[in-house]
Amino acid sequence: NTLPLLKIGLVSISDRASTGIYADQGLPELKKWLQRAVLNPLELVEQLIPDEQALIESTLIRLADDELCPLILTTGGTGPYLRDVTPEATLAVADRVIPGFGELMRQISLHFTPTAILSRQVGVLRGNSLILNLPGKPSAIAETLGGVKDEQGKTMIPGI
Ligand code: MTE
Repeated sequence: NTLPLLKIGLVSISDRASTGIYADQGLPELKKWLQRAVLNPLELVEQLIPDEQALIESTLIRLADDELCPLILTTGGTGPYLRDVTPEATLAVADRVIPGFGELMRQISLHFTPTAILSRQVGVLRGNSLILNLPGKPSAIAETLGGVKDEQGKTMIPGI
């Protein structure tokens, strides 16, 4: 009974965490959620980067095209501030947009906080990689990932 190895790209996008003004909580929260929710052995490729659109795009391209991660999760930079460019970077590298993921996760977040309406998170395909944006607040990671499930409680995120 050997489950296949899952390779997942994790990208935490924050000016302040990446320059050390505070400690990054995005990558630890992503890892914690995956280790609880996924039974497969995991190979995680992690990146902590500032809110720079070109750098976000090149990171996503590397994780999809070179590292061949079937799933890439980002956290941060989805809000309305001018420094928040994660959705723009994600859309710029997308082959296809899958609007349901962004719509569903915003809907889930609205059960926790009305400010969820400010998240512009998207889900896209680039090649064989599914890229999902999550909000930057650490608690939003488990809230949104945990909510993407069918009537039977099974996750609707492919591959995990
Ligand atoms: N979603 C959940 N589940 N929990 C939250 O606390 N915060 C919101 C929203 N979505 C939040 C949430 C807020 S305040 C903002 S500004 C947006 O996500 C975008 O956050 P980001 O720019 O850090 O990605």
